[in-house]
Amino acid sequence: MTQLAPQLQGPFLARPCGPLAGTLNAPADKSISHRALIFAALALGETRITGLLESADVLNTAKAAAALGARVERLGPGSWRVAGTGGRFSTPPAPLDFGNSGTGVRLMMGAIAGSGAGAVFTGDSSLSSRPMRRVTDPLEAMGALFSSADGRLPATLEPSKLRGIAYAPPIASAQVKSALLLAGLGASGDTIVTEHHATRDHTETMLRAFGATLDVAVTDTGVEIRLPGPQTLIARDVTIPGDPSSIGFALVAALIVPGSAIHIAGVMDNPSRTGLIETLKEMGADLQIEPGPEMAGERTMNITARYSALHGVDVPAGRAPSMIDEYPVLGVAAAFATGTTRMAGLAELKAKESDRLAGTADLLERNGVSVEAGEDSLTVYGKGPGTVRGGGMVATHHDHRLAMSALILGLAATQPVSIDDAAMIATSYPGFADDMKALGATLEPV
Ligand code: S3P
Repeated sequence: MTQLAPQLQGPFLARPCGPLAGTLNAPADKSISHRALIFAALALGETRITGLLESADVLNTAKAAAALGARVERLGPGSWRVAGTGGRFSTPPAPLDFGNSGTGVRLMMGAIAGSGAGAVFTGDSSLSSRPMRRVTDPLEAMGALFSSADGRLPATLEPSKLRGIAYAPPIASAQVKSALLLAGLGASGDTIVTEHHATRDHTETMLRAFGATLDVAVTDTGVEIRLPGPQTLIARDVTIPGDPSSIGFALVAALIVPGSAIHIAGVMDNPSRTGLIETLKEMGADLQIEPGPEMAGERTMNITARYSALHGVDVPAGRAPSMIDEYPVLGVAAAFATGTTRMAGLAELKAKESDRLAGTADLLERNGVSVEAGEDSLTVYGKGPGTVRGGGMVATHHDHRLAMSALILGLAATQPVSIDDAAMIATSYPGFADDMKALGATLEPV
C-alpha cells in the first residue's frame, strides 16, 4: 500500500484573508477509520468500508492489518474491502510500523494480544517517545507477554493466552479502554473496564455493530463495560462519518475571520466528541446545527458557522475527554475572544504527539497573545477581534494539530503566521490545505 495522501512538505504560511464562504464536506473520522480497519481485520467475513480517511496514520493501520493476515484492498478513493481473519491473526515476519499514530499502535496491541499472535511494534520519533505502559500494563495483567526497553516503542509481544480482568484505567483514555476490549474478544472470561470519566465510545458502538455481546452500565463510580470472552466479530459494512476534531479548524476559522459564513456537512454528532462545539457556543459562537443521516451507528449533523464576537469562558476539567484533541484550536479561538479563557484538566495534553500544552502556549505567545500554562491548565488572555498580531514562526514539534491551529490563527491575525513544517498534517487531515483554500483561506508554501 503506497502513500495516497497528497503531502504538504516543509515550511508553510497563512496570510490574513477575506471572508470564508462555501461548504466543507467533513473529512472522515480518524478514530472510526482506524477502528473500521481493525474490526474488519478481526471479523469473520468481508467488510466494505466507504469513506475511509486515507491519512498516513490510517494507512499504517491498513498495512498492519494486511501484515497480520487480513486481505486488504483499496477499490477506489475511500472505498476499501477487507477479508477478515475470524480473530486469528498470524505473527507478521517484520516489525509493524505505526508511524505517528498512538491510536493505531495502542488498539492493535490489544487486538493482536487477544488474537494470540505476536508482533514487534515500532513508530516514528514522536510515537517512540510516548508512554505505552498505560496499555501494556493491563494487557500484561491479562497474560500478554510484552517487552520493551522503557515502556516505549519498539515493543515486542510474544504470542500469549489471555484471560479477562477487571480494570479501571487511572487516566481517561479511549485508547486504553479500546485496547482492553479488543484484547477481551480473545480472552477467556469477562473483561471489565470501568471509566471514571467517560471517553469516546466508538469501540463499544462498533463492537455491537459487528455482533459482539457487551453490557454498558452507568454506575455511581462511572461507566462499566463488561465484555464476555471469547467472541468472534462478524463482518458488516461501515460508512465513516465526518471527524468532529478535524472540522474544528474550519469552524474556528469561520468564527474569527470577519464576514465568514460556512456550512460543514456530515459531522459525527456524538456527545463524547463534541466538547469543542459546546465550548464555542458558550463563547457566543453563531452556530446553527441540523441533524444529518446516521453513519456507522453514529448520528451526524450539518453545521452553519458565522463570524462571531466571542467572549472568554471557563472550560471545566470534566469536559477534557470530549475535546481532548481540540485544545490547540480552542486556544486560537480564545485569542480572538474578549476576556479570559481558562481551560482545566489538560495534563493528558503533555502525552500527545508532542507536549501540546507547552506547544499551544508557545504558538499563542509567538503571535502576540498572553497566556499562562500551569501543570494541567492553560489560561489565554483574549485580545478581542481583529487585534491578534500574528507574525510568528511556530515550531510544530512534528504535531499535526499544532500545525493546523497555527495556520488558522494566521488567517485572522494582522500579520501572516508561518510554521516550520506542514508535513505532519497528512497524518490526520491530508486535504486540509485544499479544503481551507476552497473556503477562501490564503495558505501557501514558504
Ligand atoms: C483516540 C483517543 C484519544 C485521542 C486520539 C484518538 C481514539 O487518545 O487523543 O486522537 O481514537 O481512541 P487517548 O485515548 O490517549 O486520550
